Amino acid sequence: MKKIENPFLTNTYQGSEYFCNRVDETKRIISNIKSGNSTTLMAIRRIGKTGLIKHVFNEMPSNWKGIYIDILETENLNQFLNVFSTAILNAIPEKSTFGQSLWKFFKSLRPVIKFDALTGEPQAMFDLEKDDVANNITYVLQFLGKQDFKIVIAIDEFQQILNYPEKNIESWLRTRIQQLKNVVFVFSGSQQHLMEQIFTLPSRPFFRSSLILKLGKINKEDYIKFIENQFKKYNKEISLNHANDIIEWCNAHTYYVQLLCNRTFEVTEKKLKEETWKKQAFLLLKEQEDVFFSIRSMLTKPQWQLLKAIAHEGIVFMPTSNLFLSKYGLGTSATVIRSLKSLKSYQLIYEEFDENGKKYYSVYDLFFQRWVEGK
Ligand SMILES: Nc1ncnc2c1ncn2[C@@H]1O[C@H](COP(=O)(O)OP(=O)(O)OP(=O)(O)O)[C@@H](O)[C@H]1O
Ligand SMILES: [Mg+2]
Repeated sequence: MKKIENPFLTNTYQGSEYFCNRVDETKRIISNIKSGNSTTLMAIRRIGKTGLIKHVFNEMPSNWKGIYIDILETENLNQFLNVFSTAILNAIPEKSTFGQSLWKFFKSLRPVIKFDALTGEPQAMFDLEKDDVANNITYVLQFLGKQDFKIVIAIDEFQQILNYPEKNIESWLRTRIQQLKNVVFVFSGSQQHLMEQIFTLPSRPFFRSSLILKLGKINKEDYIKFIENQFKKYNKEISLNHANDIIEWCNAHTYYVQLLCNRTFEVTEKKLKEETWKKQAFLLLKEQEDVFFSIRSMLTKPQWQLLKAIAHEGIVFMPTSNLFLSKYGLGTSATVIRSLKSLKSYQLIYEEFDENGKKYYSVYDLFFQRWVEGK
């Protein structure tokens, strides 16, 4: 395989060589699948949920079939069916033994199957009445359910089903899924509060239907070693101290670590100097500045003040305490509560619990936090 020019990936998964750690999480998911349990990945944004799913597919036994779908862009069940069918046809080539029966089955459902002119990848499109869509999804699941090997279906951005116009979609899907023996699911989504509602509220159909795996940050020591190693593989050098500083600056948040390492690696000839990574960090913030200004223009003044205050603090346990309100001139606690809600819904801040179960708030975008700190 051709060696990738930059070993710090910032969007796709390209194999274990470019993937750091997640050993325990990978084992857990594979063991869940083995025992027939579905998994729900819970985590804040950009921590590596999608990457982990792809890694599990890469590491699981080769006789298991993995089908990955991202349903973010789907708006209804018909589109879900299209994305799902396309993913299945892509995951299972027509030439294989299973592929032959699968493709025959699919063709009997009469989709329009197109092949991408460049990649040759198949794309399945159905244009059906409401009931037929639901029936077809059921048929597809039943067909997969009849196979004598494990099939893992990963549905990414799962919270999107909440936007479908069809009624009772959660309970409908839950019922279909529950009947399958050899098919196991991995659910993941970037809107954590919606994912939590779907899977942890007793009133909801998916409650206790899967094992929840909370994905945290990658262990720092492992990340440092990974970074050092990636440099080494390309005859470049980074000291453990600098690797550590980069991780600290990025709060060990996967996407940011990857991006800063990617840029830093690019401009390092041989041995990384401290000013090199600092300059790249500065440039990244500079690139984002227009985005920050447009966020400012989108928010009300109290919302903007609160966002900046949280960014300044890094983490805030008591956003309505008098101390916090007066330190940043935020007005009344009622105003702050309102602003918190809006900022959360815009995904500018998130709510998390520390190891003692104490709730805190942080800004989502690490670059924004660092930018505010520098002001
Ligand atoms: N263990 C890892 N080692 C190295 N890079 C990783 C790892 N996990 C994820 N990444 C990289 O970090 C970036 C963010 O990861 P990913 O897209 O998987 O996050 P996510 O949690 O799915 O984000 P979102 O919430 O936005 O969907 C990607 O560029 C991915 O390649
Ligand atoms: Mg993702």
